Amino acid sequence: MHKGYWMLVLVIVALSPAAVVAQTYSGVAVCQGCHSVPGRDQYTYWVTTGHAVAYDSVTVIQNNPSCLPCHTTGWDTTQANGGFDDFYLAQPPDQAGITKMKNVQCESCHGPVQFGGNHGDASTIRPEAEVCGS
Ligand code: HEC
Ligand code: HEC
Ligand code: HEC
Repeated sequence: MHKGYWMLVLVIVALSPAAVVAQTYSGVAVCQGCHSVPGRDQYTYWVTTGHAVAYDSVTVIQNNPSCLPCHTTGWDTTQANGGFDDFYLAQPPDQAGITKMKNVQCESCHGPVQFGGNHGDASTIRPEAEVCGS
């Protein structure tokens, strides 16, 4: 096969949206424990921001699927990855899941983060701008 063909395949794989979000969302309650200590206080700061109440404080959006993608975490109807839509669109809706993924949480900007061996040396946190609002 010609070398240029494989270059093209690589480029397409690298650009495909599926490559951006493959992990499952954990939810902010999981980040809280480790990220609200001195020197690692991102949670302590986040709760003071509008992102932390982007769903709670805007009751008018809470039953409007055209507003929810930006006011919640992990809205992606193409993937079953524990984002808000997976609980909100479920029949019947999953209230515990909705509560877990409401508001604009850490993973809205950092991408889905899974725990265990993944966070640290093999961090799943992605720096690319594409994860914003994912
Ligand atoms: C078990 C503890 C623990 C949990 C839970 C945890 N973190 Fe971390 N996180 C750390 C430590 C330790 C670091 C290393 C950097 C530091 O000490 O500030 C880190 C670093 C990071 C970084 C910096 C980039 C990187 O890869 O090092 C980001 C972003 C981050 N965490 C996001 C999150 C998010 C989002 C969550 C929840 C979904 C979360 N963390 C949950 C312990 C944790
Ligand atoms: C494309 C993303 C997006 C969509 C879709 C969206 N919003 Fe927002 N919304 C935002 C952002 C970003 C902000 C914060 C703007 C700012 O603070 O300047 C915001 C802020 C708001 C605020 C102000 C909240 C406050 O406390 O200051 C209200 C109210 C609001 N949106 C209502 C809605 C409604 C109603 C819908 C659906 C009809 C909707 N939004 C759909 C992104 C979105
Ligand atoms: C609105 C988007 C956004 C949200 C929400 C957000 N972060 Fe970040 N975070 C960033 C950006 C952007 C940086 C990079 C800052 C820089 O490099 O100066 C960052 C940096 C970090 C770092 C690296 C150390 C630092 O402070 O620079 C950690 C750890 C982190 N975030 C954890 C979290 C946790 C935990 C949450 C939720 C409690 C969270 N972030 C919520 C955008 C966000």
